[in-house]
Amino acid sequence: MWSGRFLKELDSFADDFNSSIHFDSRMYAQDIKGSIAHASMLAKQGIITESDLAEIIDGLTSILDDINSGKLEIDMAAEDIHMFVESELTKRIGDTGKKLHTARSRNDQVALDIRLYLRDKCEEIVELIKELALTVADKAEENKTVIMPGYTHLQRAQPITFGHQLMAYAMMLSRDVSRIKDAVARMNYSPLGSCALAGTTYNTDRRMVAEKLSFDGICMNSIDGVSDRDFCLELMSAFSILMMHLSRFSEEIILWSSWEFKFVELDDSYTTGSSIMPQKKNSDMAELVRGKTGRVYGDLIALLVALKGLPLAYNKDMQEDKEAIFDSVDTVIMCLKVFCPMVRTMKVKADNMYRAAQGGFINATDLADYLAKKGMPFRSAYKIVGQIVAQCISENCVLDELSLDKYREHSELFEEDLYGEISLETCVSKRISEGGTSVESVEAQVAYIRNELN
Ligand code: ARG
Repeated sequence: MWSGRFLKELDSFADDFNSSIHFDSRMYAQDIKGSIAHASMLAKQGIITESDLAEIIDGLTSILDDINSGKLEIDMAAEDIHMFVESELTKRIGDTGKKLHTARSRNDQVALDIRLYLRDKCEEIVELIKELALTVADKAEENKTVIMPGYTHLQRAQPITFGHQLMAYAMMLSRDVSRIKDAVARMNYSPLGSCALAGTTYNTDRRMVAEKLSFDGICMNSIDGVSDRDFCLELMSAFSILMMHLSRFSEEIILWSSWEFKFVELDDSYTTGSSIMPQKKNSDMAELVRGKTGRVYGDLIALLVALKGLPLAYNKDMQEDKEAIFDSVDTVIMCLKVFCPMVRTMKVKADNMYRAAQGGFINATDLADYLAKKGMPFRSAYKIVGQIVAQCISENCVLDELSLDKYREHSELFEEDLYGEISLETCVSKRISEGGTSVESVEAQVAYIRNELN
């Protein structure tokens, strides 16, 4: 391509080292789409003729069709996808093909292609997250009366429903959707026409290209247009947070599936056995999602570090953006695709959850509230209930089993109705505060998520 300036060919190892076709070939459709928009603008502005444009569009469309159908294989000896498409075009339509790169550089071209590619992928990712969040909401609705212990510090804390716990994840996922949409909105500006860095002397119409490609506007500074990779970083940050959510969810599913908990059982189709221990059923999918979270963080950090010392404008270091962002896109898509059916088919062991909720004195707060509602200052009630819990531990019983006489040794305020007040069912059904664990509150959360995401 630049043989004019050089006397020797690039060393073959250096050539491989320099090339990005192995990973950027996936943007062929976006590259062609961008080129068609660019050529249309060149023709409208009188920079190329209408007949040049017709030839270019024909050529590019036939390349697209042939790649899609498998008739044309992308040549891995090309430096990158931009060079490949341009040289293939010239092969097909001759010298007119050489006019396509007028008033454009690979620097603005690659910046455009990545944005177009990510815009498409983000649509897919948002749909997958929505599907997962709605699946979680369905599961939550099915389990809105299933009582389990809620935890803090991984110690049994207060009774909740499994539906309530699940809806916490649905909320996280709905924020992930909105975070990705925000990032896409900021990304949706066209860098094309920035050219190498300084703009161009041709009478181009950048806004026409932007409009043709459904951007909301153009990058207002050409140097920024070719140097900016904020959109990759923003998306990878959003993906990292999403993966952190999936990883926490995975961690809980792994714990809940253990013999120590036995709160859920994953379907056979989403678990594996052991090569030596015949009894094993391992939560490999959830573990892999948890593991791949680190990889997505790594992609974000790799690009942040690659960019931090770069002078403006384009530097070849920036070619490293693509492997990082593509890897995180692929990983997020894979994880979401396996997670959704894994959750959908997960069996809930309500009896075990209930049994766990009966231990651990998780109705102690409600017992203190009982005294406080009868006029005792909460701090004093808290202290008395602490003493009662200690007594129960030494007598090896739970709060529901201690006799009224023994209760009244601690306070005259205790009456027969205390037992009803501290039953697990009451503890749950009385937590009607918005966002709380009662059936009505969880139903409202489910309705909110369905409305938000549909
Ligand atoms: N393959 C290159 C990349 O991905 C395209 C841009 C090349 N620009 C350049 N001035 N060498 O970044």
